[in-house]
Amino acid sequence: MLDASVSPARPRYLSYVGSSGLAAGTVGDALAATYDVNLAGHAAGAAILEDQASRWTAEFVGHPHARGGFTSGGQISNLTAILAARERSMPGARVAGVLGQGGAIYCSSEAHHSIVRAADVAGLGTGSVRRLPIDAQRRMVPEALERALEDDLAAGITPVAVVATGGTTLTGAVDPIADLATVCEARGVWLHVDGAYGLPAAATTTGAPLFAGIDRVDSATLDAHKWLGVPKSCSVLLVQDETVLEAAFGHEESYLLHREGMVNPVDRTLEYSRPVRSLKLWLVFRVHGAGALRSWIQRGIDNVLLLEALIGEDPAFEALHRPMLSTLCFRHRPAGVADLDAHNLRLAHAMQADGRVHVAPATIDERVCLRVCFVNFRTTADDVRMTLDVARELGHRVD
Ligand SMILES: Cc1ncc(COP(=O)(O)O)c(C=O)c1O
Repeated sequence: MLDASVSPARPRYLSYVGSSGLAAGTVGDALAATYDVNLAGHAAGAAILEDQASRWTAEFVGHPHARGGFTSGGQISNLTAILAARERSMPGARVAGVLGQGGAIYCSSEAHHSIVRAADVAGLGTGSVRRLPIDAQRRMVPEALERALEDDLAAGITPVAVVATGGTTLTGAVDPIADLATVCEARGVWLHVDGAYGLPAAATTTGAPLFAGIDRVDSATLDAHKWLGVPKSCSVLLVQDETVLEAAFGHEESYLLHREGMVNPVDRTLEYSRPVRSLKLWLVFRVHGAGALRSWIQRGIDNVLLLEALIGEDPAFEALHRPMLSTLCFRHRPAGVADLDAHNLRLAHAMQADGRVHVAPATIDERVCLRVCFVNFRTTADDVRMTLDVARELGHRVD
């Protein structure tokens, strides 16, 4: 089965946002499985370990006072943040529901679908998501956010949360977090950063300026199973103030132990029974250290810049945007091919069938392209060169 499966941990798997299967993470999973702790109730040592791993993560990305918990993925982290934001903006909604109360979520037109799904599950309705315009760098426009907030407030609609994306899935664009924080702070609106893919880049000297203002946000999501290399699934939700999670999820049940000064993690999480997902990230920090993680993340950024430079040297290729993190959408445009959309779709399928490089097709501004995302520390400069060589070779055969 393994030989016949697509493996995102391989160095030339460049589709979607992969995970690179660090061995220390695999050991963490194995150890967690042997003991099978449940983090619904107070789990003593495991709870301390989770707290330490989330603090290290918070320090790593430059939001040192944030605290948080581990979830199964970006979808659940984003949903958890939106449920907490809903309770803050519409107090009592978790009891009374939101029926008859208009609430809205604001994000860029290129935010991940998990935000729409979170609005759906939170009872706000997918129609409550305001997908705001983007600028030439594909980032949310703060003035458009201000206008949308003012329009909704004037219409009696409650702004529940603004979701900035810290690395969009399509192009890796990072919304202007500090400017959005200023807009949100002026109106007391919750600011969440969906950094499921890109937030680890805040730990690098190249990426940090893009994430300026991250220490001002109410909540932020980071998937360790993406750019931090651990196996799925392992996501971290960081919040500025943990009491917001207790307000959204705290409850009293007679079958749960309640003791003075002791927190049941389930009072801060959406999930009930939970494994110790933090152990694998804790081990990665202990075994490799933040410095190694930083240099691996930087390698992804360097790889995309190399690919962009190689594309610039070959007129048969065209980059469709400037990379901001480690993702690039580009296409093959050999002379004499009239339908470049059909050509690039065929090329992506041919590359997957060929098996040397795994690249998925995507559509940007209604143009079909090849999209690559470098999050694997194993990917070398030679792999980057080979990606373009394979695209060139197969591109001449697919029509
Ligand atoms: C920006 C962003 N947010 C959220 C998600 C959803 O994360 P998950 O698949 O871990 O639930 C993704 C997945 O690729 C993503 O890129």
